Amino acid sequence: MSKKLFKVAVCGATGAVGREMLKTLEARDFPASEVVPFASSRSAGSTLPFKGGELTVQELKEDSFAGFDLALFSAGGSTSTKFAPLAAKAGCVVVDNSSAWRMDDNCPLVVPEVNPHDLDWHKGIIANPNCSTIQMVVALKPLHDAAGIKRVVVSTYQAVSGTGQKAIEELENQTRRLMSGMEANAEVYPHQIAFNCLPHIDVFLENDYTREEMKMVHETVKIMGDKSIKVTATTVRVPVFYSHSESINIETEKKLTAKDARVLLAQAPGVTVLDNPSEKIYPMAVDAAGEDDTFVGRIREDETIDNGLNMWVVSDNIRKGAALNTIQIAEELIKRDLVRVP
Ligand code: A2P
Repeated sequence: MSKKLFKVAVCGATGAVGREMLKTLEARDFPASEVVPFASSRSAGSTLPFKGGELTVQELKEDSFAGFDLALFSAGGSTSTKFAPLAAKAGCVVVDNSSAWRMDDNCPLVVPEVNPHDLDWHKGIIANPNCSTIQMVVALKPLHDAAGIKRVVVSTYQAVSGTGQKAIEELENQTRRLMSGMEANAEVYPHQIAFNCLPHIDVFLENDYTREEMKMVHETVKIMGDKSIKVTATTVRVPVFYSHSESINIETEKKLTAKDARVLLAQAPGVTVLDNPSEKIYPMAVDAAGEDDTFVGRIREDETIDNGLNMWVVSDNIRKGAALNTIQIAEELIKRDLVRVP
């Protein structure tokens, strides 16, 4: 029997995540009859490498989606708000990387290792969670299933690639300029990012948290399907190119020893435990970059409460945090025979 093939649109293909999506489709031998890269009119006509050849970038337009089965979006919230419904109307299932649809009650918010069943009720648009939330819930899920997580306190150390291609260039340029005795110009971020940490990701809200912090709060509850989980977050941009790191403290209903947690996490899909402090083995951003898994280490019991754990969780924000998770969602849709708009 011949394998069914799908026509795939990659919207925002010239960006940091879009490029990684093309690489991931290629590396995982995604069952595509055709892959077409779309971006703004600025990049129309440019080419992107794919499977030993080149694909020509098309301008994303309102009538771009006819004949496509899947549209993978990473072109910013306003582009998704405008184009994702048009794609779904044209019969194309959308997996969207922006925050535009994540908290919409009609859109599942999916991490395939955690809540693949939520794909069953999709209506044409599926949201890919925020990068810092994805790696956190991959690590929390096995612990929640075993011991019931009551509360999460998380602090993030997030790479500039999460902001996009221009931010990668800003860190490179600022580093070079400062090392040459010149001034650093801040354009993408409100302050210098080279040799600095910014406790400010996305905009500040009325409660003085940032939108990034509140995404971690709300998205975690939606993905885990448990409103009782309390999350509080501090999100920080650091001068790292790829991979977000997170310090996560959890309080559970039942006691989990550090050893219990190591065993549960070692068996969890998409997780690699790297936890041997005496040998200086723990997850690090430079090692996680370019990898698919979420790495967990520094697992310790929180000595200030009865049932608490601390851990350090690192994952490539462009891969598991964005492109890979998007393509894993598309693969899960195929597996469940859900590549159709109901
Ligand atoms: P372009 O390169 O033509 O500007 P990043 O997050 O790395 O900055 O990438 C954003 C991606 O979204 C790029 O591929 C960018 O294309 C694309 N994009 C931005 N605005 C639009 C738009 N209005 N229509 C289609 N694609 C867009």
